[in-house]
Amino acid sequence: MAKTKVGVIGAGSISGVHFESYHNNPEVEIYAVCDLNEERAREKAEQYGATHVFTDYNELLALPEIDAVSVCTWNNGHAPISIAALDAGKHVLCEKPLCMTVEEALEVQEAVKRSGKVLQVGFVRRYGNNAKVLKEFIDQGDLGEIYYSKAACIRRLGNPGGWFSDKERSGGGPLIDIGVHVIDLAWYLMGKPKVKSITGNAYNKLGNRNNIQNLDFYKAADYDANKNSVEDMANALIRFENGASMAVEVSFTLHAKKDNLAVSLYGTKGGAEIEPELHIIGEKYNTILNMTPQINDTTFNFKSGFQNEINHFIDAIHGRKETLSPVEDGVEMMKILCGIYESSETGKEITF
Ligand SMILES: NC(=O)c1ccc[n+]([C@@H]2O[C@H](COP(=O)([O-])OP(=O)(O)OC[C@H]3O[C@@H](n4cnc5c(N)ncnc54)[C@H](O)[C@@H]3O)[C@@H](O)[C@H]2O)c1
Repeated sequence: MAKTKVGVIGAGSISGVHFESYHNNPEVEIYAVCDLNEERAREKAEQYGATHVFTDYNELLALPEIDAVSVCTWNNGHAPISIAALDAGKHVLCEKPLCMTVEEALEVQEAVKRSGKVLQVGFVRRYGNNAKVLKEFIDQGDLGEIYYSKAACIRRLGNPGGWFSDKERSGGGPLIDIGVHVIDLAWYLMGKPKVKSITGNAYNKLGNRNNIQNLDFYKAADYDANKNSVEDMANALIRFENGASMAVEVSFTLHAKKDNLAVSLYGTKGGAEIEPELHIIGEKYNTILNMTPQINDTTFNFKSGFQNEINHFIDAIHGRKETLSPVEDGVEMMKILCGIYESSETGKEITF
């Protein structure tokens, strides 16, 4: 069988795990790479044997032999590149967030419909072994009705600078960058209830704190601390049509004692913590039980999570599986993220 020819658009930090996972999939040939930074694209092409290098994604999409692309650019490229790729007849794996606004998300959804191609949103945490195992317990009813969840990702010092802190290219700060992972994971495991209302607050009180010394923190490939037009902290309370609710807190910078990554779910029969590590909480014979599944990766594993995501994408392209993270979910997530920003700006609860 002919190999699936893949192009990767955006050859920065996260593209590394896309390249590596495609490389490990025996059905895939990495065929072309595109980045605004030609040297960066060329380096990746040489490393993974891609024969075509571009700085303009339209030229990559014009190659008829390409079957699928990964979109790993800044967030402002996600919608236009995904739409152009779908219209050129390519399947798309688009990094999270799907895009920057609800309007853009709906346009991408339209393009998926008219092209009939697969678009998988890079909600990689859904593809982790810990999520897969917990989903099975939830589907079997072990948690009962899930009525409350918490999604937190607190960095005390971690504004990556560069495009991440330029709202025009990112769409926002910690909420759209790291909040999207934890909110999506909780929402997916809750059974994707329809959002009813949102109260949110976004703060820009501390700035990017690039004055801090003696403590390392994550920086973008093109680090630049000069521009910072994004929030540094956000929180929200989301209410769903089924009566369930979710509490959210995220930050790039905060006077917190330590970083905190925490996603938990609470139901009528049991509870679960999935981040930072998988635990299931139950009750038997009038006794409370804390259960720790004995599996590989009780904590999300970057390498296997991305490998599962990319393998799933290839299976979806060939019609062997439905994607776990379809465009519709990307649209719902944009409604939630933009709803939090809107509620903060207006000082009011947003209803849907
Ligand atoms: N799933 C995850 O866990 C995860 C982790 C990190 C980043 N991401 C997402 O991946 C994307 C990229 O993030 P990153 O950390 O790799 O950033 P990065 O800055 O390291 O790399 C982005 C690259 O995209 C290139 N680029 C931007 N616009 C382009 C365009 N129009 N055409 C071609 N190339 C373009 C840039 O030159 C840069 O090399 C973002 O959307 C981010 O949200 C996901």
